Amino acid sequence: MMKWKRATLVWLYFWLQEKLHKSWPGVEVIVGLMWGDEGKGAEIYRLCHYADLVVRCFGGNNAGHTIVVCDPLTGEDGELILHLLPSSLVWGHEIAMGAGVVVDPVGLINEVKHARSFNIDPSERLSIDGRCALVLVYHRVLDLAEEIVRARSGEKIDTTARGIGPAYADLVNRKAIRMSDAKTAQRFENLLRKRLAEKGKILVAMGLTKEEWADIFVQLKGKEESANKRLIKNGLLNPAELDYTRFAGEDPGAFKVDEILKFYLSALNEIKSWGCIRDVSRLVNGYIKEGKKVWVEGAQGAHLDNYFGTFPFVTSSHTLSGGACIGIGMSPRHIKVVRGILKAFTTRVGNGAFPTRVGDALRYIFEGTGLGGREVGATTGRTRGVGWLDLVLTRTACMINGVTVISLTKLDILSGKGTLKICVAWRIDGVEYDFVPDDHEMINRAEPIYIEVPGWIGDISQVKSWEELPRAARYYVETVEILLNKGAVEPIKIDRLGVGAKLEQVILR
Ligand code: IMP
Repeated sequence: MMKWKRATLVWLYFWLQEKLHKSWPGVEVIVGLMWGDEGKGAEIYRLCHYADLVVRCFGGNNAGHTIVVCDPLTGEDGELILHLLPSSLVWGHEIAMGAGVVVDPVGLINEVKHARSFNIDPSERLSIDGRCALVLVYHRVLDLAEEIVRARSGEKIDTTARGIGPAYADLVNRKAIRMSDAKTAQRFENLLRKRLAEKGKILVAMGLTKEEWADIFVQLKGKEESANKRLIKNGLLNPAELDYTRFAGEDPGAFKVDEILKFYLSALNEIKSWGCIRDVSRLVNGYIKEGKKVWVEGAQGAHLDNYFGTFPFVTSSHTLSGGACIGIGMSPRHIKVVRGILKAFTTRVGNGAFPTRVGDALRYIFEGTGLGGREVGATTGRTRGVGWLDLVLTRTACMINGVTVISLTKLDILSGKGTLKICVAWRIDGVEYDFVPDDHEMINRAEPIYIEVPGWIGDISQVKSWEELPRAARYYVETVEILLNKGAVEPIKIDRLGVGAKLEQVILR
């Protein structure tokens, strides 16, 4: 298509979106409806271009959002990978992290460096709530140590190893060190020394061998190097800074306290120099009062929620729309729209139930080749399990979130894959279920009940309108919508279809 024609279409699309939103003001919350990786990042990037403020409410840098933008280092389409910062930051509006977000200070600094290498400086318009709990090295060590212990009894969760579980456990146990504790070096130091001593004892009691202890720090070093490989490759980050082995004493539970203190004081001083630590609850409520446009970016997905997910293979925070209120300090009365992001098929990274999962032989159905098409985790690089769309999980996710509008992403991936299946119910011990049962053990025995629908031939990634889509693709979307509305509390509409990772690859319905 001629360049000017494409530009006009993109402009028209943005203009229309803004008009639509203006007639429907209020806070919009965006949540994932599965186990994360639904394509929230790309959708938030597309949707929030005219936002005044985009705020994260829960989770930490276990989240991973990939957005395709021009990479100034290569001049080509590149992947801007974000973990803590909202995915809409490209647009230049205010961004914030509410009290419910757990912040790894070093992770945050490296992410800001990554964004700066794309010519974007988020530190100038970032707010972090002083109540945010910090994720520190001992949380990451505990995360890996707990996995070693769980693996002994076959209960490994396969976490992202970002220290998220131990950080939230500290918060609930009233042991967290929070952002506001970094106001003075002395206050931070006192708490850090105390916590390192306490965690040391816990780690001794876990019975790790010397080798296992040393290996945890080697693993952390490797994970950091792999997460920051683009920065290292381009000489923007010295890999010696990521060498976590310098924090380990010889025996299990022994930390090099002074080294750790130096590491974090320097990181926290840098964050403080941005002038970003403030009361995000007041900020958000002020914006709401002034009638400004506020969006909440959820992290992970409904079935990773600590209460409602496929327990115990879940994350340690609330991933539902209700979590937005607690994680920010905002009344539920201000939420006007809850948008669910759903992939046209299902993926999961990490262990846990996955009723519609398929084996390697069928993996090709769910994997594309281009940017954003590979089913590999943005945070850990792990290969995601893949399978058919599961409406039992989706229906439940819509109900517990109050979803009324859905963006169905990655529809293009299903092109040319023959007959498609949709899971409409589960059979467990001879009984049919439309919603996820409250006994998590039962989910492991769920047998999916499928319907089959015709597939379509031909690439749809350049299609711009609903009418232009192949009939079978429209039938797939309509069938999903009809079946989702079965038993729904409120009508649910699939109003946006993602057909590629780029900004303009979306169809409004
Ligand atoms: P944690 O959040 O690192 O404790 O990991 C707990 C579980 O949640 C693991 O199965 C992770 O793979 C999964 N998980 C956490 N964050 C994400 C995410 O952003 N996308 C997909 N899976 C996630």
